[in-house]
Amino acid sequence: MKQANSIAELRAAVGEWRLAGCSVALVPTMGNLHVGHLQLLEAARHCADKAVVSSFVNPTQFGPNDDFDAYPRTPEADCEKLRQGGADLLFTPSGKEIYPPEPSLAAYVEVPGLSDDLCGRFRPGHFRGVATIVCKLLNLVQPRIALFGEKDYQQLTIIRRMVDELNLPVEIRGVATVREPSGLAMSSRNAYLSPEETLQAAGLYRHLLEARERLAAGERRLAELEADFVDKLASAGFKPDYFAVRRLADLAQPNPDERELIILAAAWLGKARLIDNLKVRLSR
Ligand code: PAF
Repeated sequence: MKQANSIAELRAAVGEWRLAGCSVALVPTMGNLHVGHLQLLEAARHCADKAVVSSFVNPTQFGPNDDFDAYPRTPEADCEKLRQGGADLLFTPSGKEIYPPEPSLAAYVEVPGLSDDLCGRFRPGHFRGVATIVCKLLNLVQPRIALFGEKDYQQLTIIRRMVDELNLPVEIRGVATVREPSGLAMSSRNAYLSPEETLQAAGLYRHLLEARERLAAGERRLAELEADFVDKLASAGFKPDYFAVRRLADLAQPNPDERELIILAAAWLGKARLIDNLKVRLSR
């Protein structure tokens, strides 16, 4: 596995592959890799000749009170996992390499509307930071395909829209959420949970499953259902940010006859902000 710390090294390596006629897949990450990331790498290796993984804890997607400094960083372990997982190149740029010097970053990429909804309501500016770094990474690597976990479904939807509206020549592929045996969605932020909270955290997924059953059983008063599950999460010890039923295609409020839905939830448990979602296909 090659490792590039600079944009010049990255471009040299990827440029050589392109000249040799190889297709490239990109898996953007913030490091602290778990099985979910390795599934993205596995999928990347199946759909292109070369798999590039980027590892960069992107400061612009963290708010002033977010966990940028505390975000788990495990570079040596990540490197070993990627080597074993068959990555061809690991891109680990510094902040200086990616962003111009303080005080200002003048050019941002923004996907208005959806970026201010759901998680965006609670993390202002977060999706602007995500769209900006993902756009930069796509420009730097110029992959044929880029892969993202479906756990961050709003992020995935925003990236798809950005790529579509900016006509970026890349396919965006979502990869199914990987779960612990308890049902808890794998996430780097699960590291913030105590052993007891880790057991409790699986309750978030159980609530999503229960909501899906109620939708499948014909319940259609979505506002009531959402409010009910916010209360249930609070009673189960979470501090919920939201519990929402949306149209799968674009995360808009669903029409009454919508069949392809997704339930999304975000809730705090101790120091961890957990997010998860579950798709729902209604037959009637
Ligand atoms: O999902 C993540 O890990 C990050 O938001 C991403 C896509 C790597 C951008 O920093």
